[in-house]
Amino acid sequence: MKNGDSFTSRPRVSAIALATADSSTTPALDRTQAASAAQFDRQSDRYGKSHILADTQDVAAALQGVPVPPGGTALDVATGGGHTALCLARLGWRVTAGDIAPRMLENARRLVEEAGRSLETKLFPAETMPFGDGSFDLVAARVAPHHFSSPEKFVGEVARVLKPGGRFLLIDGSVPDDDPATEAWLHEVEKWRDPSHGRFLSRAAWETLVRARGLGVERSELNPLKQPDLQWYFETADTPPENRKKVLAAVRTVPPRVRAALKLGEEDGRIVWWWPRLTLLARRSA
Ligand SMILES: C[S@@+](CC[C@H](N)C(=O)[O-])C[C@H]1O[C@@H](n2cnc3c(N)ncnc32)[C@H](O)[C@@H]1O
Repeated sequence: MKNGDSFTSRPRVSAIALATADSSTTPALDRTQAASAAQFDRQSDRYGKSHILADTQDVAAALQGVPVPPGGTALDVATGGGHTALCLARLGWRVTAGDIAPRMLENARRLVEEAGRSLETKLFPAETMPFGDGSFDLVAARVAPHHFSSPEKFVGEVARVLKPGGRFLLIDGSVPDDDPATEAWLHEVEKWRDPSHGRFLSRAAWETLVRARGLGVERSELNPLKQPDLQWYFETADTPPENRKKVLAAVRTVPPRVRAALKLGEEDGRIVWWWPRLTLLARRSA
């Protein structure tokens, strides 16, 4: 792994620990983090150029009108295959990409370098960032925070590592406001599909977290995003066969209200639904 990042083993339940390149701190991963690291290391090769996440128009649109300061630094947390990191590099940011899964980070670096850009990579959990206070002009996290063991700690770290006036961009799966039935159904199904899933938070919950850390919300939108093929989605997470059955049974018996809320249906034999996706842009006061 580049930049000296490495994992070290520990004789603990969460048998993985992090060793960052430039420090001796080795925070042990909690169970949720360890599960994510193992799951995404296994599945890393599925997050390449053909992945649905390779389309980063959502990132570019969310950052439209956000100026890149001279030498502007961006941190892409939980970079996965590196698609957001590449988008940020193309927009002119000097990017550091982090993830908890070493193979994901390696693939992200390759993706960005093959596109003729460069980035720093760093192995760390989103809840404990190995950077000094006020290090970045922008922190981004896309389609990953629903895996985090502590969104509270994550947002605390975001606020800490942002420079005064810096921005936080969050794009993630969410749940409809004031619709507990759909929230519960979506959560259960996603947990079966990908056991490393943690929790989708509502727009209101994210706004509360962000404001509690002194960031001002500049933009917060919940938009439906099409999940175009449940089978493909199973493959991406390598969903165990018994869990696929549970998901398919849940789809067959979905309550009408939930079906309507998610526009769940079939298209050319494929099961499709529309996943509420939150885009939130927040700013640390200057
Ligand atoms: C769906 S991928 C991210 C996609 C990527 N951000 C993009 O825009 O293409 C989810 C990533 O979150 C990472 N992850 C999950 N939990 C994490 C945590 N607690 N800290 C850091 N990374 C985490 C996984 O290893 C995985 O690479």
